[in-house]
Amino acid sequence: MSRTIIVSNRLPTKVQRTDDDLAFTPSEGGLATGLGSIYRAEGNVWIGWPGLVADDETERQQITTKLQADSMQPVFLNDDEIKGFYEGFSNETLWPTFHYFSQYAVYNEQHWETYVAVNQKFCDAVLEAAGDDDTIWVHDYQLLLLPQMLRKARPHSTIGFFLHIPFPSYELLRALPWRTQLLEGMLGADLIGFHTFGYMRHFLSSVSQLLGYPSQNGRLELKNRTVLIDAFPMGIDYERYANAAASEVAQEHEQNYLAALPNARIILSIDRLDYTKGIAQRLRAFELLLQRYPEWQGRATLIMLVVPSRDQVAQYQELKEEIDELVGRINADYRTITWNPIHYFYRSLPLEELTALYRMAEVALVTPIRDGMNLVSKEFIASKADRSGVLILSERAGAARELSDALLINPSDMNQLAEAMHEALEMPEEEQKMRLANMQALVQHYNVYHWTELFMNRLAYTKIKQMTLATE
Ligand code: G6P
Repeated sequence: MSRTIIVSNRLPTKVQRTDDDLAFTPSEGGLATGLGSIYRAEGNVWIGWPGLVADDETERQQITTKLQADSMQPVFLNDDEIKGFYEGFSNETLWPTFHYFSQYAVYNEQHWETYVAVNQKFCDAVLEAAGDDDTIWVHDYQLLLLPQMLRKARPHSTIGFFLHIPFPSYELLRALPWRTQLLEGMLGADLIGFHTFGYMRHFLSSVSQLLGYPSQNGRLELKNRTVLIDAFPMGIDYERYANAAASEVAQEHEQNYLAALPNARIILSIDRLDYTKGIAQRLRAFELLLQRYPEWQGRATLIMLVVPSRDQVAQYQELKEEIDELVGRINADYRTITWNPIHYFYRSLPLEELTALYRMAEVALVTPIRDGMNLVSKEFIASKADRSGVLILSERAGAARELSDALLINPSDMNQLAEAMHEALEMPEEEQKMRLANMQALVQHYNVYHWTELFMNRLAYTKIKQMTLATE
């Protein structure tokens, strides 16, 4: 029987140490729900890092047993591996480069060596779990070398790869000392997926300029294999958000929040703490709105949820300080006894509280400087079934290719952003509903299950095609 093996750096379950026990909670992100139906199916498995350092053998065993019972296989990383592979090469080199922040990129040979070694560690774990006929689906920038490592060990395996972040222009990629190894690593797959055609184009251009492989209609002819490249914009579990937002618990939360903020016009911002998300720029634009349109002083209220992330990486620590300072200053400058301009939370929230915020917000500000897709924009839309609300969306998020009924803005243009907030707060309800309905139809249809099915079918087709060509 052919099985499916999912591989990503982070498992869909996060393990944390509590006072005298271990806590198993869902990881942030939409991937787990979308792939839930696949990896939990008979015999399938999801391989990845459980998110903590566990050097003690008994503890490892305890974690492994618990995860295995839910179709997961942990790959444990030690402190040096977390520093060199996760914080180092993945998040101080690849993440900034691929998001066009190459001024933040660190080029460190030791980090690279650890990245190679950890990709090999993942490879060993996959080979142990997978048979020759199994389909392997590798995810994201932490594992760019894995497809090729697997291909070497299992030349006939079916291997898919999906990149969840942008693929940058050749000019950015070429700055990396390890650029050819990274591209060759990805090319071990039979099918490589991106969120948008733009990322796919950048990838093909880099492959052509650095490796000399030409392509036609997304087909790359290597010396002895064909690799297909395509765009698969990822969706969310629409019903999960729509149902959670409509639930009694969420409505109760909403009533409580609204009672605490009488007459407020609510603008919402929700992100992982990351410099790619444009959080500081957004705060400055909100201040500009208050300056330019003083009628919003005393009324417009920004609820800003920032979810802690990668807090051992220097740039993230600096950004946290910058945001803390900005929020403090703007609130001090503008607040009155009865009105606080910014309500800032630095934590993650359970689904019902999150969807209560989506429900009550009149405007969602999703203004990343760069974002592979951005699922927050889609979650807001799903949570607004039969309601009104306006999405302000950055033209540099992958989601902007699909959500053309949002107010699309350039996230570095403070003026445009402040004007968009004013326009959103003044938009007639009928127009809000019409725009939302268009986007709801799209987000509901192209949900994460659709995305998974599309990718898996295409991967199966790619393999059949290769086999037919080989026998011709
Ligand atoms: C982005 C990446 C994912 C990553 C997630 C959370 O969405 O594409 O691969 O898992 O951020 O980041 P973390 O570093 O906490 O895994």
